[in-house]
Amino acid sequence: MSTFPLRCYKEGSTVFYAPDVSLYAEKGSYVPSRAPVFYNPKMALSRDVAVCVLQAYSKEASRRLRVCIPMAGCGVRALRFMLETDGVESIVVNDLNPAAVSLIEKNFELHGLKGKATICCDDANTLLSSSASRGDRFDLVDLDPFGSPAPFLESTIRALKPKGAMLCVTATDLPLLCGSQPKACLRRYGSMPLKGEYCHEVAVRILIAHAVSVAAKYDYALQPMLSYYFGHHVRVYFKGKLGAKSADEKLGTIGYLAHCDRCLSRKLVNGFPVSELARKCPSCGGEVKIAGPLWCGPLQDEVFLRETVKIAEEKEGGRTLTFLRLLLMEASAPPLYYNVHRICSAACVPCPPIKKVIESLRERGFSAFKTHFSPISVKTDAPPGELLTLLKELSSSSKF
Ligand SMILES: C[S@@+](CC[C@H](N)C(=O)[O-])C[C@H]1O[C@@H](n2cnc3c(N)ncnc32)[C@H](O)[C@@H]1O
Ligand SMILES: [Zn+2]
Repeated sequence: MSTFPLRCYKEGSTVFYAPDVSLYAEKGSYVPSRAPVFYNPKMALSRDVAVCVLQAYSKEASRRLRVCIPMAGCGVRALRFMLETDGVESIVVNDLNPAAVSLIEKNFELHGLKGKATICCDDANTLLSSSASRGDRFDLVDLDPFGSPAPFLESTIRALKPKGAMLCVTATDLPLLCGSQPKACLRRYGSMPLKGEYCHEVAVRILIAHAVSVAAKYDYALQPMLSYYFGHHVRVYFKGKLGAKSADEKLGTIGYLAHCDRCLSRKLVNGFPVSELARKCPSCGGEVKIAGPLWCGPLQDEVFLRETVKIAEEKEGGRTLTFLRLLLMEASAPPLYYNVHRICSAACVPCPPIKKVIESLRERGFSAFKTHFSPISVKTDAPPGELLTLLKELSSSSKF
């Protein structure tokens, strides 16, 4: 029996109990870490996406999946996988917090599912390592820790099946990944971040590169299928398979970023391009900042993302569908977005609507896309100088 007040919630079509969030507020807003068992309603969209991804993946694999949620909180994610998809063959639901485990049991009992799940109270690394050593591996592991997933990646990768497994990873330590604490980012992810206008995309790319490198140690190849930034977290879904050659190929897509603050030029370079990474910007002679290692390849697998969008269309849709469609629209865009507001403000010109900027870039023969990373930014292959000229022209002609 829980010794704290519970409230009944609904996410997707799933009803469940969680701590009453109104009791754990600070300055009027709920602080999930204060609650005796973790539940964050703000992550509902992330769970909606996870439900669609699991359904899409199970459909693509033409099989039901053996799933593990090593850090399950109140169990809402696990419950939603069971109730809102038909892709789960078996599920292991774990949390280190005994109060969370009692609540998971209560929630599973509520739906008559307690006998259909293995619910345990273990350290995530212990659980995952013992699953690997027993040969009891998973088709899908959903890693959703407090902060960085880095301390759990090795055991998670060892616990994945050798063929066609899916790894889902959340990181909420954005101050590190976005460059406010570079030393901590080096420590956790072995990578130098870059603070600035497109730091959230750099954060996703660092997380991918780190997971790919850790997996490669085990001759395991990870390919990012769907990646995003939302709210206070970044999240990546990888497909994995055992194979040294494939792991080498994935490592080949890791490289470095060279960024010039003066003219805003930026370049991703695969491999170890020491000679290509000039200290002076080739466009303007300004000082170049280097970040990485990071993932230089695509963030989405368009085919898989389209299937996930279809699943979201069949479900209730709403903001999750809008979000997934935006990811799909920008899937083929050039990397590393430009913050139009920031550029206009530095140039002391009024800021045109993003829609207008995109239309005008396309009229001039460039590719241009909205991005989910930032509603005031564009992804384009136009050089930064051309973008600035266009923004100045738009503002002087008041074409908007
Ligand atoms: C961010 S919450 C998980 C939220 C959950 N996945 C969801 O969607 O609601 C992180 C959880 O990890 C648990 N935890 C922290 N350290 C752990 C560890 N070493 N092993 C297992 N669970 C751990 C915490 O008790 C907490 O419930
Ligand atoms: Zn420059």
